[in-house]
Amino acid sequence: MIDQYGRSITYLRLSVTDLCNLRCRYCMPAEGVSKKRHGEMLTEDEMIRAVEAAARLGVTKLRVTGGEPLVKPNIVSICGRAARVPGIDEVCLTTNGVLLPELAADLRRAGVRRVNLSLDTLRPDRYAAITRCGTLEKALAGLDAALSAGFDKIKINAVLIGGFNDDEIADLAELTRRYPVDVRFIELMPMPGGEAFGPECYLPVSRVLDALPKAAPESSDGVARLYRLPDAQGHIGLISPLSQHFCADCNRIRLTADGRIKPCLHSAEEISIKGLDDAGMEEQLRRAIYGKPACHGELSADSRSLSARNMNQIGG
Ligand code: GTP
Ligand code: 5AD
Ligand code: SF4
Repeated sequence: MIDQYGRSITYLRLSVTDLCNLRCRYCMPAEGVSKKRHGEMLTEDEMIRAVEAAARLGVTKLRVTGGEPLVKPNIVSICGRAARVPGIDEVCLTTNGVLLPELAADLRRAGVRRVNLSLDTLRPDRYAAITRCGTLEKALAGLDAALSAGFDKIKINAVLIGGFNDDEIADLAELTRRYPVDVRFIELMPMPGGEAFGPECYLPVSRVLDALPKAAPESSDGVARLYRLPDAQGHIGLISPLSQHFCADCNRIRLTADGRIKPCLHSAEEISIKGLDDAGMEEQLRRAIYGKPACHGELSADSRSLSARNMNQIGG
């Protein structure tokens, strides 16, 4: 379906839970989130009916997110059913990877085609610090599991944070030579629930190119501008929601685990589909798509996202 600004909306990001087994500083508070009542959350059947309604409106790509989607006990079933929805060409997943050693093969068999894995640093002490409770070894075991499971594509997401991992750009980029993976650097976004980072932490992703003089430009892929190092198997991607936002080409809507459609990541607007029948869901999705804002407001160290939710309640 085309929105009022002529953008074709073909991509749904479905957050299946706001719970997470990590506590990344840019995403959620140290104490985690107050658990919502079971009855407030979408059931598996409602999620699948919502995906079906979105597919009827022209959505072809589904990305399953969280929180951490792999902590959801029925995640393999959700992905498998979603992959069989007529019109959905591709089911992808964004995960921190910690549970991939147990789940990667089942997810692949269920029809998940591509996996994006969050990994901001290759130093164990830094990984523990940014995730507040994670171990690098487990995330790397997750990457290994993803590589062995035979997904069509694996992308690593690294949030670039000044004074934290900006001295690791070359090390992270080197992963594209060692493995058949893309490594994408994402500008830190000031989200509610995330820690208050100082202005020095917000670096433009152009810094990545300064650190990688041999990276040659290639085409774009969704929100990422792509580059490649000599002899690399995968791309380097730059995602620049602050320095060069991509709203004019945005093709996505989001659905939260408690059944709210978010037409834009950084807007407070939400439209509920919880408890609705198929026709009701389709109507609300239609409204949300049509009314999707042209663009998000200013984002900077002192201008937080207008989203009414923490990142773990949206899924990126
Ligand atoms: P692909 O399907 O592989 O292109 O994945 P993706 O980039 O759409 O998804 P992913 O979950 O890997 O998200 C990568 C980063 O881009 C995360 O930090 C997201 O928060 C950010 N991002 C994704 N969509 C949007 C968007 O619509 N607006 C903004 N500002 N950031 C977004
Ligand atoms: N700024 C930028 N990226 C973020 N992510 C989570 N919170 C933020 C933030 N505040 C990223 C995660 C994950 C993706 C879905 O969103 O690292 O890879
Ligand atoms: Fe969990 Fe992802 Fe948020 Fe980290 S960024 S706390 S892994 S949901």
